Amino acid sequence: MLVLGLETSCDETAAALVEDGRRVLSDVVSTQVDIHRRWGGVVPELASRNHIVQVMPVLHEALTRAGKTLEDVDLIAVTSGPGLIGALLVGVQVAKSLSLATGKPFVGANHLEGHLLAIRLLEDAPEPPFLGLVVSGGHTSFYEVQDYGRYRLVGSTRDDAAGEAYDKTARILGLPYPGGLPIDQLAQKGNPEAIHFPRALPQQDTFDVSFSGLKTAVLNHVRKNGVPQGQELADLCASFQEAVADALSKKFVAAARRLGLQRMVLCGGVAANSRLRSLSLERAQERNLRLYLPPVRLCTDNGAMVAVAGYEAWRRGLRGDFRLAADPAWRM
Ligand code: KG4
Ligand code: ZN
Repeated sequence: MLVLGLETSCDETAAALVEDGRRVLSDVVSTQVDIHRRWGGVVPELASRNHIVQVMPVLHEALTRAGKTLEDVDLIAVTSGPGLIGALLVGVQVAKSLSLATGKPFVGANHLEGHLLAIRLLEDAPEPPFLGLVVSGGHTSFYEVQDYGRYRLVGSTRDDAAGEAYDKTARILGLPYPGGLPIDQLAQKGNPEAIHFPRALPQQDTFDVSFSGLKTAVLNHVRKNGVPQGQELADLCASFQEAVADALSKKFVAAARRLGLQRMVLCGGVAANSRLRSLSLERAQERNLRLYLPPVRLCTDNGAMVAVAGYEAWRRGLRGDFRLAADPAWRM
């Protein structure tokens, strides 16, 4: 079954062709970061407008790279939530229009399920049950994946998402948006022990995390000492990154052990982070747990993950109809 995945939930316009939810034929991502960077974050109205401009060229490119036409597509999968309402609407309307024009069926896919199931695109993919940690710009949530379509939320952030903490910290430090990659790169040249930043909620009885205290600690540090430069900036980034990776990887491993899950999946944009990856791997191995890491290009938003989630939803019997609405707060 050839599935077209369409993603327009935030600031990436993406389309991909995936066969049977496992094999990627093409995966095209057009990012709007250059547009939003000057505003220091995603401007929803600009995002919607640019999705309108980009969506057809991106779709065309995905078909061309795969050597396919719309006639070859068996199912159109589109992110219908969660995300920015105006941005989601663009993808949903395009999916409906394509369906109307070609007679092909479509289905609404959950963006978070897409992040969780992107791991299916690896040859050596884990079967459920496993513990998934979705860490992105909008979410930081632990899910017990009991089966495809059966997800239990076991913990999440009480305030900022991890990606949001990165983006806000970057802003404090005068680094470009989105802040994840620049902080990660600087952190690799810094001393993670230079500054001790707080780790929130280290107690064992909750799988929730919190990042607002860490962000405030960075802000207070900068207010007191000024915005660091050179090696001091690298040291601050490394110390911040260590606090995030330490808190998340500890909770991740503790949750897997408590729930009796042997397999773990780290996903979402922040799963691209070098220290979160290495520390999670280290801690999982210490406990004889198996951690699956998607390659970096599958961590950040893409169309292939949407095709997988749509394919799995279709297999469960879900069907889109023309009443399908974008749901900005769709909980999984
Ligand atoms: O999953 P994603 O592409 O979009 C959402 O669904 O939110 O995640 C974007 C987030 C941004 O906050 C960005 O700063 C963060 O992922 N990110 C990273 C890295 N690469 C992207 N955070 C930490 N380290 C990275 N290397
Ligand atoms: Zn995402």
